[in-house]
Amino acid sequence: MTVTSINKTDLGDSDRPKHIVVVMDGNGRWAKKRLMPRTAGHHAGVKSTRKIVEACIQEKIQALTLFAFSSENWKRPEQEVSSLMQLFISTLQSEVKSLHKQNVRVRFIGKCSAFSDKLQQKIIHATELTQNNTGLQLNIAVNYGGRWDIAEACKTIAAKVQQGELQPEDISAELIDEYVCLKQLPEPDLFIRTGGEMRISNFLIWQLAYTELYFTDVLWPDFKSEEFLVALNWYAGRQRRFGKTGEQVDETKTSQC
Ligand code: IPE
Ligand code: IPE
Ligand code: MG
Repeated sequence: MTVTSINKTDLGDSDRPKHIVVVMDGNGRWAKKRLMPRTAGHHAGVKSTRKIVEACIQEKIQALTLFAFSSENWKRPEQEVSSLMQLFISTLQSEVKSLHKQNVRVRFIGKCSAFSDKLQQKIIHATELTQNNTGLQLNIAVNYGGRWDIAEACKTIAAKVQQGELQPEDISAELIDEYVCLKQLPEPDLFIRTGGEMRISNFLIWQLAYTELYFTDVLWPDFKSEEFLVALNWYAGRQRRFGKTGEQVDETKTSQC
């Protein structure tokens, strides 16, 4: 299949991921190849983000979670971090109205208290404005780290044990599920990472236990809706076994037909 020949998938509901998570990587290298500053790559990346959100709406995907800034990205040069913060502010300013119009519900995961008052205001505004929307559930991970997420869940659970609301023996994987980020959504079905690296980089490490992992060399600013549909079609071809045998999964599928 040539990448440019598809604009829309004709996947059935069971072949379509409910929840997609994306590590939007490769902005810096995209800019470097063009002898441009890294920040130009981040600006170009915003266009891809818009396209992927639109593709998710068109494909009726329930939830999309985007990794925009990791808890480790503070280690980057001060100038890059500050220009990323500016870009978050201006992007929220320019995009939120249109997301609201498209019935998208926007939420943020991560430690937002580390951001400037101005950015925190934009985050609160986007969250509140769109809170009753019933279309695509868009989660933006900012100052997010999977280890932080698990540690926060542990803190909450430990406090409940201390107060006698929970017993240590109540702690199970299902209980921890209730306290990590994105608990209100189906577990991620499909993980996409652009930019060629084959690693998780501290994204949703708890939630990705059984997610299908898709890696592409395409740099984020070049990742357009056609590339996204290739990933969706790849996902549709996966057999998700969750520990069972392939034959058991086939049997269940046949008995459901
Ligand atoms: C991802 O692109 C964007 C953020 C981490 C904010 P990069 O900036 O990591 O791009 P590369 O990996 O250096 O090409
Ligand atoms: C992961 O990309 C974080 C985001 C895309 C926001 P990085 O570029 O920071 O990951 P590493 O450092 O290459 O693992
Ligand atoms: Mg990178």
